[in-house]
Amino acid sequence: MTTERPRLSVVGTGYLGVTHAVCMAELGYEVIGLDVDADKIALLRKGVVPFYEPDLPDLLEKHNGRSLRFTTDYAELAESADIHFVCVGTPQLPGQYGADLRHVESAFASLARHLTRQSLVVGKSTVPAGTAVRMAQLVRDLAPSPDAEVAWNPEFLREGFAVADTLRPDRLVFGVESEWAETQLRAAFAPVIDQGAPVVVTDFATAELVKVAANSFLATKISFINAMAEVCEATGADVTQLATAIGYDPRIGRRFLAPGLGFGGGCLPKDIRAFIARAGELGVDQAVSFLREVDEINLRRRARTVEIGLDLVDGSYQGIRVTVLGAAFKPDSDDIRDSPALDVAAAISRQGADVVVYDPHAMDNARRLHPELDYAVSLDAALDGADLVLLLTEWAEFRAMDPTAIGGIVRQRNVVDGRNVLDPVVWRAAGWHYRALGRP
Ligand code: UGA
Repeated sequence: MTTERPRLSVVGTGYLGVTHAVCMAELGYEVIGLDVDADKIALLRKGVVPFYEPDLPDLLEKHNGRSLRFTTDYAELAESADIHFVCVGTPQLPGQYGADLRHVESAFASLARHLTRQSLVVGKSTVPAGTAVRMAQLVRDLAPSPDAEVAWNPEFLREGFAVADTLRPDRLVFGVESEWAETQLRAAFAPVIDQGAPVVVTDFATAELVKVAANSFLATKISFINAMAEVCEATGADVTQLATAIGYDPRIGRRFLAPGLGFGGGCLPKDIRAFIARAGELGVDQAVSFLREVDEINLRRRARTVEIGLDLVDGSYQGIRVTVLGAAFKPDSDDIRDSPALDVAAAISRQGADVVVYDPHAMDNARRLHPELDYAVSLDAALDGADLVLLLTEWAEFRAMDPTAIGGIVRQRNVVDGRNVLDPVVWRAAGWHYRALGRP
């Protein structure tokens, strides 16, 4: 196996896997992607990215059928690549805090059975500490070749910026058990390392923990500012000014300190819960018990948003037409997993309101999960006749709304700015009752 330009594979063509496969092709590697879902593979072969992510479709088209191809066959995958990246999902177990590792276990086992020569299997999925050791044992047990090895390389990309984060990551973390594995990983990321990306080479447990520690820190930062928002609401203070003022301290920093409806998505919520569950198993639950509070602060923001809306419509949602702007868990994504916006929309609908949702990209996904809500075809259609408007995902289209122009479309000028992105002075001057989280 040459270390200059190893051939790569990606197992699991979900969000992380497709992005990784396409970006590695863009970096000049030959890449083969596998999924057990034949429909997904058929779409990818046709050049269709099955979710919304800026820049990804163009790059897929550029490399598809050339340096990048797709299969459902593990034997073909094992034959076609030297380094395999496992990118399958680790969702929250139904009704429990822990992560569901079935897909990880099945991917490692299925691949291992076909490894007939020296190869490296690299876990990228976010997993509880201790998983990599088990996967390494699994590969030793199942691989026909004695030279199949495991490494762990957590991924830190953000949805909406996935391409940029993969091509120019802040850092690379390599959890390895041998120098050979490190050499292979350095070869697999050579163009990124040459651009100056720092590399942390470490053991399995540290590599696994880096990922959950990073997401726990980010979740804590968001919940910290949202806890301050609760205090601001009780004192008449303004949390956005507070965030700006404390954010000037470079030790604190303003990034990820945006107060509002809080975090959602397929990562932060389930990662902190899985961390709490794993810490419990390890007997160190006290060390991360604050994460329960982080989770609770986050969920309280959703309930508070429902309450603020209720204030604006005089205490009852019965028969009120409510426009919810945003369904995705954040802008520039069509991902609705644990979406705060949809949670609020559904809660208000349960209280008797006639809820109309609009999102630039997440409508189909939202409709599948919440068929009981109405969906508008455009922003204007969504606002038509509204008694209350809630901005819950800060898409550029919503931030740019002209309060005077849309004031003529709605029935009543009531707005809840769930993401603190509108200018209260301008909106109030245009005759709106403006309310936001953490602001007078
Ligand atoms: C997050 C991490 O940021 C990535 O580094 C990580 O790789 C990824 O999870 C993962 O584990 O795969 P992502 O879920 O794409 O990325 O989204 P974020 O940008 O972190 O936003 C998460 C949520 O926090 C969103 O709902 C967002 O609206 C909210 N948020 C973010 C705030 O409420 N306030 C902020 O200041 C920032």
